[in-house]
Amino acid sequence: MLPRIDEFAFQSGRVLANKYEVLERLGKGWEGEVYRIEEIATGIERAAKFFYPHRNLGDRTMKFHARKLSRLSSCPILIRYVTHDQIVFRGHKVKFLVSELFEGEQLVVFLRRQPKKRLTIFEAMHLLHALAGGLEQIHEFGEYHGDLHHGNIMVQRSGITFDVKLVDLYRWHGTANENIREDVFDMIRVFYDMIGGAKVYKSHPAEVKWICAGLKRSLIAKRFRTAGDLRFHLEHMEWDSM
Ligand SMILES: Nc1ncnc2c1ncn2[C@@H]1O[C@H](COP(=O)(O)OP(=O)(O)O)[C@@H](O)[C@H]1O
Ligand SMILES: [Mg+2]
Repeated sequence: MLPRIDEFAFQSGRVLANKYEVLERLGKGWEGEVYRIEEIATGIERAAKFFYPHRNLGDRTMKFHARKLSRLSSCPILIRYVTHDQIVFRGHKVKFLVSELFEGEQLVVFLRRQPKKRLTIFEAMHLLHALAGGLEQIHEFGEYHGDLHHGNIMVQRSGITFDVKLVDLYRWHGTANENIREDVFDMIRVFYDMIGGAKVYKSHPAEVKWICAGLKRSLIAKRFRTAGDLRFHLEHMEWDSM
């Protein structure tokens, strides 16, 4: 038995699979590590996710991500899947997925830079709208994201609104509808956190509270069955208190 790999820690400048040069590490998580890489033959920068072998038994994790990204390739909120490859690292075969690089930042990092570490209600509603419209297309396939939180949402300001990309997907048990409802709940929780969380919730206008529904799952599920319902609501809601 080879010792298990808990970290790759590739240095910048290292060449992998004779094709890619490592530029920097973008993230380290439960399944593996993500790097900004350059495809040497073309000079194109991409993102590559390297899976820890014990999190990718039978290549199941790699296949799950690649297939799901491919099936949902018409959804612009997901990053484009490009290809997969393999390296040998400390005797282990290590699979990695190469995808489009998104030049945004994690929502958690973006929020930290904001005054009082939060967004104004209108900014947050714009971001929520971009998120809901993007997820709506995934939900229309009967699919779901499964792991929506401020570390997996990448954002970049674009005029008055936001370009949003989702990274990482997760496969849960349960029906598609249950998981779609969970996506909607997670998205609303992200909105709730973006505007200051529990500390300031009381002071928000009624329109915001109607959307957040005090983060009560059953109430949210009744109001918005899918991301599309939420997107529609944001486009047609009436303002009484503001
Ligand atoms: N295509 C990409 N473009 C730019 N950054 C990315 C991309 N994919 C992942 N990242 C960055 O790497 C981090 C970790 O990637 P993620 O897929 O969430 O893996 P994990 O959470 O399992 O480590 C992300 O939070 C994001 O900051
Ligand atoms: Mg992640």
